[in-house]
Amino acid sequence: MPPKMTPVEAALAGLWLMLPALVPNSAAVLLGGGRPIDFGRSWRGRRILGDGKTWRGFTGGAGCGIIVGLVQIAAADLGSFGEMWAFGEWPSALTIVVCLGLGSMLGDSMGSFIKRRLGVGRGKRAPGLDQYNFVIGAVVLVAIFNYNWFQTHYIEGVAIWSLVALLVVVPALHRGINVIGYRLGRKDVPW
Ligand code: CTP
Ligand code: MG
Repeated sequence: MPPKMTPVEAALAGLWLMLPALVPNSAAVLLGGGRPIDFGRSWRGRRILGDGKTWRGFTGGAGCGIIVGLVQIAAADLGSFGEMWAFGEWPSALTIVVCLGLGSMLGDSMGSFIKRRLGVGRGKRAPGLDQYNFVIGAVVLVAIFNYNWFQTHYIEGVAIWSLVALLVVVPALHRGINVIGYRLGRKDVPW
């Protein structure tokens, strides 16, 4: 790890690298619709995931996140970014980007699964879960497939500020984006 990195730099690098997991949420709102992932089926009297989770939203969201990650990999190569600002060597960089994009949408679906089990209807608020579900999914998947990368970029030393920044910035970002989605008429509620 570069010893001269400040906490602010580390935090910005961590947010930059989490972009492939942050983009899918908004992309799913824009691209979603059509057949629900659970095909309308219920479990124990409640929808498995609900109408808010569609195949188009899931694949479009994850796909957009992965594309953003590929652009970041190319940018890091061209600009010879420092180690802390990059996903690392090919092909493990691709694994990380796929984990972030896919994990984000898996976490989002898992969040809805939990909401339905708790009896919280589609689009109804579940504070905490709504804001963090996708980050948790992305982090879990990355940690499973490349714990070493996750540790050097989000846990070890000054990198812990990346994790702190995520916890603070993600709810604000989530709120901001959803207000925009609401104003654009893409969302029924501003959360
Ligand atoms: N969306 C989608 N497919 C996904 C995720 C999201 O089509 N896999 C679209 C849906 O139109 C959804 C909107 O994005 O209504 C907002 O996403 P989200 O807030 O995650 O869903 P909610 O409708 O709030 O449903 P839930 O209560 O299950 O979170
Ligand atoms: Mg919602």
